[in-house]
Amino acid sequence: MTARKVLVLNGPNLGRLGSREPDVYGATTYADLVADCEKTGADLGLTVEVRQTDDESELVGWLHEAADHKYPVVLNPAAFTHYSYALRDACAQRTAPLIEIHISNPAAREEFRHTSVVAAVATGTIAGFGLNSYRLALQALTILTD
Ligand code: DQA
Repeated sequence: MTARKVLVLNGPNLGRLGSREPDVYGATTYADLVADCEKTGADLGLTVEVRQTDDESELVGWLHEAADHKYPVVLNPAAFTHYSYALRDACAQRTAPLIEIHISNPAAREEFRHTSVVAAVATGTIAGFGLNSYRLALQALTILTD
């Protein structure tokens, strides 16, 4: 059996992990995150493809691709979380589990981060565990059936 493909999708500014506000997001680089997700996935029997974009339409397109292929998704929508109805509507079309994740805990930060327009159409949300949020989401996918 071939390993199930999972898309790990990252929104704006996450490509700058390592140099971006390290007090909030840590010192691990985006390249390290990609390697860690691929390794975690392989250990779990998943083929993980990690992508990042600062472009809303590109992220929407990747969610359409996931829906068309029934790929499960781990999504860190970054700032789009808080206002992108286009992203929300793309997530609503999912045909497999979609886990919203955050490195930080948005509920413990500024008020504008307390709203997620994606949460209601996600399978569930994991937030506040640093980069372990990605690992936890990949583990969660392995216990979900769809
Ligand atoms: C984030 C939280 C968002 O509020 C923020 O805009 C991000 C990163 C996180 O992973 O903690 O870019 O999604």
